[in-house]
Amino acid sequence: MTELRDRLLAEARAALKQSYSPYSSFPVGAALLDEEGGVHRGTNVENASLGLTICAERVAVFRAVADGHPRFRAIAIVTPTAEPTAPCGACRQVLLEFADPDFIVWLAGEGEEVEEHRLEDLIPRAFGSFRPKEGS
Ligand code: THU
Repeated sequence: MTELRDRLLAEARAALKQSYSPYSSFPVGAALLDEEGGVHRGTNVENASLGLTICAERVAVFRAVADGHPRFRAIAIVTPTAEPTAPCGACRQVLLEFADPDFIVWLAGEGEEVEEHRLEDLIPRAFGSFRPKEGS
């Protein structure tokens, strides 16, 4: 597990180097582990309109899904900050769409500390489906 975590963190750090974040100067790197053990990198891509900016986590998810890998087991997210940074609410909801039930989120800043969370705990009582339950 530590080996997997460290592999994902290294991939996320590599992704962070590709960040396009001239407006916030806040680069974020993400690395997503799919069900077959493949890794998909993402980084934040900003826009002059600001509102069209997309987060690192969603870039990783959309890239992986578009490449034919729609089920995920874990993500590592890194920021150049003293403390780890947690993903925004929009990214939590998007991750949930494709996540295994025991999906893990690893967070790291520049220090040694790595936080480990279950996605389920980061987005309690999430919106699940607009379809009515069977029989109702
Ligand atoms: N950002 C991410 O990439 N992921 C998050 O979960 C939160 C924020 C990016 C978006 C923007 O480019 C910069 O961080 C500052 O908000």
